[in-house]
Amino acid sequence: MGDIEHLFEPRGVAVIGASNSPGKIGYKILHNILECGYKGKVYPVNPKGGEILGCKAYRKAEDIEGPVDVAIISVPAKFALEAVEDCARKGVKYIPLITSGFSEIGEIELEMEIVKTAKQAGMRILGPNIFGIYSSRSSLNGTFGPKDIKPGHVAIITQSGALGIAMIGKTAVENIGLSTMVSVGNKCDIDESDLLDYLIEDEQTKVIMMYIEGVSKGSRFISTLKRATKVKPVVVIKSGRSERGAQAAASHTGSLAGSDDIFDSVMKQCGVLRAESIKTAFNWCKFLANAPEPPGRNVIIITNGGGIGVMATDACEKFGIHLYDDPEATKRIFGPVTPDFGSTKNPVDLTGGASSEDYIGALKAAATNPDIHGAIGLYCETALFDAKGLTSAIRQSHEMFAHNGKPLVFSSLGGKTIQDGIDELGKEGVPVFEDVYEAVECLGAVFRTKEHKKKMESFYPEILTNSTIITETIGGAMYDGRNFLLADEAKKLLESSGIQMPKSMVAKDLAQAVSAAEDIGYPVVMKVVSRDILHKSDAGGVVLDLQNRNEVIDAWEGIMMSCKRYDPSTRITGIEVCEMVKKGVETIVGARRDPSFGPIVMFGMGGIYVEVLKDVAFRALPLTRAEAIGLIKETKAYPLLLGVRGEDKKDIDTVVETILQVGALLQSTSLITDIEINPLVVYDQGQGGRAVDGRILLSSKEVKE
Ligand code: COA
Repeated sequence: MGDIEHLFEPRGVAVIGASNSPGKIGYKILHNILECGYKGKVYPVNPKGGEILGCKAYRKAEDIEGPVDVAIISVPAKFALEAVEDCARKGVKYIPLITSGFSEIGEIELEMEIVKTAKQAGMRILGPNIFGIYSSRSSLNGTFGPKDIKPGHVAIITQSGALGIAMIGKTAVENIGLSTMVSVGNKCDIDESDLLDYLIEDEQTKVIMMYIEGVSKGSRFISTLKRATKVKPVVVIKSGRSERGAQAAASHTGSLAGSDDIFDSVMKQCGVLRAESIKTAFNWCKFLANAPEPPGRNVIIITNGGGIGVMATDACEKFGIHLYDDPEATKRIFGPVTPDFGSTKNPVDLTGGASSEDYIGALKAAATNPDIHGAIGLYCETALFDAKGLTSAIRQSHEMFAHNGKPLVFSSLGGKTIQDGIDELGKEGVPVFEDVYEAVECLGAVFRTKEHKKKMESFYPEILTNSTIITETIGGAMYDGRNFLLADEAKKLLESSGIQMPKSMVAKDLAQAVSAAEDIGYPVVMKVVSRDILHKSDAGGVVLDLQNRNEVIDAWEGIMMSCKRYDPSTRITGIEVCEMVKKGVETIVGARRDPSFGPIVMFGMGGIYVEVLKDVAFRALPLTRAEAIGLIKETKAYPLLLGVRGEDKKDIDTVVETILQVGALLQSTSLITDIEINPLVVYDQGQGGRAVDGRILLSSKEVKE
């Protein structure tokens, strides 16, 4: 972790550019630090010296006597380097650089110069172009945002400054306590991964929320995220659904790889909860920071209305919540607390006449029963009900569930009294929502977090590739000036990585063709081999489904004649005799280098409709077997592989192995940019599959990961 704790728990903080003018950012930052009870020493720095906000001002940071771990710089860009040099002389460790006017407007060189100067002095830069840092551990509000920040358990890392400042205000309104809030701005040095390293260990932080616009150093980010989600939930909001990756693509894998799709897939792989809006992210963070981890997966719905109960049931299906489905048991548990005309099946319906005591009774039965692990309470306002009593009933039930280590969410729908109750409970941190879907989605986030932790596996299987064949084949293609491999070269590489390709041989004469067909086994396909013919079928160079020796002889003569007629100057090297691939489920497996996340693999429905169906998902490499299975499950190809309408299950193990092998081949050399198998035909379980067509694209230069 290095000494990044000094950024969050500094012994002394200097504000360089501190000012006596209340309108200036340097004034506001110093004011916030002093007002919010920072526990260490504060040193304003200003060339005029004197006093600022009652503190002695130093003309230079190097004049400060005590240790300064953090120096917040708020001087115009043209003075920033000079200020960083001053910090270097003082021995500062971390510099949050508030100033704008660097790489975000194209001033890259100055930013690089600052990073270089800082690195030489062993200092690290946060930013530039940031609003600062808040750390509850040291009560440091080194931001020019709102003064009042409630300390708590949610850490926020944000790439957007303006949004971040707005989020500080919103967390106060929503009564969300923060352990830390960091603005990362241009990320010229410190990035999300550095901060995650600290937050993973920080006991104060129970949930991490990140607002991200773009990812750099993706491989490190992925491994840090994976470590983080093993320990605590991570919620991400990402903007910028750019199609840049897709436009630059030269293969199916590339054109299907919209950068946002990859981001989404990789976040799933890392167990990150991706929220579509700030409101959703805040709901999740607030709930996750306080909710106990459910001891199992059985959830019960308790309602006073059928309609809202059905809505909650739909929402449970959408958010992957398992409803407790044992009518005998629920009758035993809820029979004594449900009216005769109600329902004890899940959703348990207490009916429109239910009182607050009835709710407490039913929720107590759920909280104390060992077979129920979480609950959703629903209330629709009725004329009969004492709406005020509901607030206290929800509060009591919440305590009961917390005491029994189970999560409870509540959704209430009604008029002003209900709304007032929701607001009152919200301030106390009791999770009550107007909207059923919001409530259920929060509970879903808790279950997803738990599921992910359970599934986490850190064993990366070692897949062997043949470096001699790879080097020789790619070397040959490069010598020819090609940035792609010919079909037979690609086949050689894929086969040498263990991928099951159709059996084939190139015959130089008819006798060899006949013997090849007998070795491979009928039916076979014959294809002309000639570098002069691009589209073999157009030249009459392909004949399918040859059943016996005579048909092979006829096909040989037919192909030779047609190709010569097509172009008399054609040079024919031979005819390839190939196993005729049986029908199966057509899938696609690809791998490429993503500009943000580095090497990735793709899987989905294959065949000629691949770009229309767009049923693909992605994962970053390296990949565990469990992650490869997760990738397959994310696509609609998965139910096909399980077998539809009485079909046998397909060989999913072969798909998993092929994904891992394609990934290993991409990672074996930086000279391959794209690999694609389409289709990978998958047969019934135990019978493997065939990679019918394989393409490999090469880079013109070495790629560094
Ligand atoms: N060391 C210490 N103090 C210095 C200094 C140095 N090398 N050079 C200048 N100062 C002092 C100035 O004298 C001034 O103090 P004063 O008010 O007593 O005269 C103070 O630092 C600030 O300098 P000033 O020139 O008044 O700049 P400013 O406060 O108007 O603007 C920034 C400085 C950094 C706020 C501005 O350049 C900027 O980048 N603003 C955008 C910030 C932003 O939006 N960040 C992203 C948020 S998400």
